[in-house]
Amino acid sequence: MDLFEYQARDMFEAHGVPVLAGIVAHTPEEAKAAAEKIGGVVVVKAQVKVGGRGKAGGVKVAKTPDEAFSYASDILGMDIKGHTVNTVMIAQGADIAEEFYFSVLLDRANRNYLAMCSVEGGMEIEVLAVERPDALARVAVDPAVGIDQAKAEEIVDAAGFAPELRDGVINAILKLWDVFVKEDATLVEVNPLVRTGNGDILALDGKVSLDENADFRQPGHAELEDKAAADPLEAKAKANDLNYVKLDGQVGIIGNGAGLVMSTLDVVAYAGEKHGNVKPANFLDIGGGASAAVMAAGLDVILNDEQVKSVFVNVFGGITACDAVANGIVKALEILGDEANKPLVVRLDGNNVEEGRRILADANHPLVTLATTMDEGADKAAELAHAAR
Ligand SMILES: Nc1ncnc2c1ncn2[C@@H]1O[C@H](COP(=O)(O)OP(=O)(O)OP(=O)(O)O)[C@@H](O)[C@H]1O
Ligand SMILES: [Mg+2]
Repeated sequence: MDLFEYQARDMFEAHGVPVLAGIVAHTPEEAKAAAEKIGGVVVVKAQVKVGGRGKAGGVKVAKTPDEAFSYASDILGMDIKGHTVNTVMIAQGADIAEEFYFSVLLDRANRNYLAMCSVEGGMEIEVLAVERPDALARVAVDPAVGIDQAKAEEIVDAAGFAPELRDGVINAILKLWDVFVKEDATLVEVNPLVRTGNGDILALDGKVSLDENADFRQPGHAELEDKAAADPLEAKAKANDLNYVKLDGQVGIIGNGAGLVMSTLDVVAYAGEKHGNVKPANFLDIGGGASAAVMAAGLDVILNDEQVKSVFVNVFGGITACDAVANGIVKALEILGDEANKPLVVRLDGNNVEEGRRILADANHPLVTLATTMDEGADKAAELAHAAR
């Protein structure tokens, strides 16, 4: 989960990273009040989860509360790369002498953490990384050790900071590492990290991505979620602990095991080429224990996707045998009643498959078609989706 800048700022502050005052506003009036409260020069900053806000006109310096009001009127409602600005942050203005860059992130390819740092920060860091990679220091961070004093010194020296800035920057980096570890982040980025006219080192813009796998030990993270932006189907799936990802096609998919579901997506996409180019509508892995309740919850999510025209249930019975899955499907259709209103193609195989197929055949539900192979099921589901379009 990515955070808004104001959420990252609050998190930084809580861990002792040096930041300036920042107050969130949703209306020009609130922006003006915030500017009055902070006093002096402020910066009105669009809160959107996308880079390049400054260049898009979403960051403006306001000398007076009235200016803050007027910039907030301009920025609120603005569209930045497809993201509508609903919130601005009124930030205390900094007297910037120099802009630097620092980030630490999960480096999946190297199974490690990576710190990046540059004395040439600011809005063009992506360009710098491509055109002059030497100006961006990259320092591997051993997860078992983390960023301690010695590692922070190594990072600061690799970036080439002036001697008088070392202590301040090292302090900021150590605190940012605290944020990274204690909040279970996969990315903490500060651009710019600045030196002010009187020599303070401050984090003026922050990006933080949190690792949702750690939510169980981060109860405070739930409230950071941007519920307004969440896809309603994905939210519903999440509430039911389902592994669901919405895609753009017409054939709903339910399977057990991530590998089987992934290959089902491929097979359905391939079959769809013969049937008006229909495509899979989602990824949904109901996991090992395909109980009636889980099956019902999964079908409920998929059938509520307006784009879905047919559903392909592709289950391989293992520990949960096919007869239990078949009973799960029958009960799920009972639970859903009239809400089950789209054709279902079911392919079962594996443990106790004969009994599973018999249960479904006996139930004789008007919406259910049985398929014996995965290819046959995919073809049938694609055909039905195409016919219903
Ligand atoms: N509190 C502040 N005081 C003075 N200047 C600021 C302040 N915040 C930002 N700036 C200036 O505005 C520039 C852009 O701000 P910021 O880094 O927050 O947005 P951005 O880089 O455009 O956004 P993103 O990082 O999302 O691409 C900064 O590089 C800095 O020069
Ligand atoms: Mg920035």
